[in-house]
Amino acid sequence: MDATWCARMSRRGKVLIIGAAGRMGAALARRYARNREVIPFRREHLDVLKPENVRPALEKNDFDAVIYTAGITNVDECETNPRGATLCNTETPRAIAQVCAERGARFIHVSTDYVFKGDDPAPRKETDIAEPINVYGRSKLEGERAVLAVSPEFLVLRVSWLFGPDKTSFPDMILKRAMESDHVEAIADKHSCPTYSEDLTEWIEPLLDNPAARGILHLANSGASSWQAYGQTVLDLAAKTGFKLRTNIVQPISRSTFPGFKAVRPEFTSFDTSKFRQLTGITPRPWEEALEEYLIKKFALFQVESAELR
Ligand SMILES: NC(=O)c1ccc[n+]([C@@H]2O[C@H](COP(=O)([O-])OP(=O)(O)OC[C@H]3O[C@@H](n4cnc5c(N)ncnc54)[C@H](OP(=O)(O)O)[C@@H]3O)[C@@H](O)[C@H]2O)c1
Repeated sequence: MDATWCARMSRRGKVLIIGAAGRMGAALARRYARNREVIPFRREHLDVLKPENVRPALEKNDFDAVIYTAGITNVDECETNPRGATLCNTETPRAIAQVCAERGARFIHVSTDYVFKGDDPAPRKETDIAEPINVYGRSKLEGERAVLAVSPEFLVLRVSWLFGPDKTSFPDMILKRAMESDHVEAIADKHSCPTYSEDLTEWIEPLLDNPAARGILHLANSGASSWQAYGQTVLDLAAKTGFKLRTNIVQPISRSTFPGFKAVRPEFTSFDTSKFRQLTGITPRPWEEALEEYLIKKFALFQVESAELR
């Protein structure tokens, strides 16, 4: 146990968040700025395709913990830019880990459900074998290993299917399509755990100063879904909330017939989050409940924007 960072973090130590313009990073930065000093790192502070820039960029700052959420998160882009994927998903996290280890700082690295092959419908545990089937998943798994090789005290958080207010994601796209078109479809043979970025920020806070939170940890809202069932729930909840839809049905399609994919996608990658529950005593709420809260807030914002346009 490294008492240095534990003590500093329990006294509301400074958190440097890399990827602070992203879906997860922006939510973390907003939440933690309420009660501690946050140093938000965006593209202009560090190009994460340049691991050699990590040390000089971090050395200019005083921090007690780093959370790394940046990188090429587009799975198909990783397939066409494997070198870029390795740099930002493996080499930059390794370099951050090295600086954090030298400073005695906490490091939380964010990874993905795509480290799994996806051939087993049972929820995946942290101890299950990771066998990624695409460039993104391989670069993220190598990143996890690189970070934990620097120190097993560091924490790797695997997350999945994020949605939230800071960047467009699947629910926003499905909703937009259903408001503009009478045909909406989504993939039915791919399953994971939809996860609300605002909930994530609450779950991560008690992990910041907890020395037992080390190694790999799966974090997600409770329950799992196919993309198609997720989309259908978006439309059911959106209609209930008051959104005017041109269709309220999401038609099922399969991964093999979807024209846009360059990378192969794993079929089943939902998480077992019992390790997190045991560690913190927190049971993540069902994803449907989190999604409903998100859509209610989105609808309120939508009404304000529509009124301003009138
Ligand atoms: N989103 C999901 O459903 C999902 C699922 C599983 C795992 N994850 C993991 O969760 C973490 C957070 O994901 P997210 O959804 O928040 O991702 P995101 O919204 O795509 O944010 C990634 C951030 O990285 C930044 N970035 C990209 N290339 C950069 C570069 N060369 N230099 C500096 N910054 C760069 C982006 O900056 P700009 O804003 O300037 O483009 C963006 O703010 C990632 O580790 C991801 O792999 C996400």
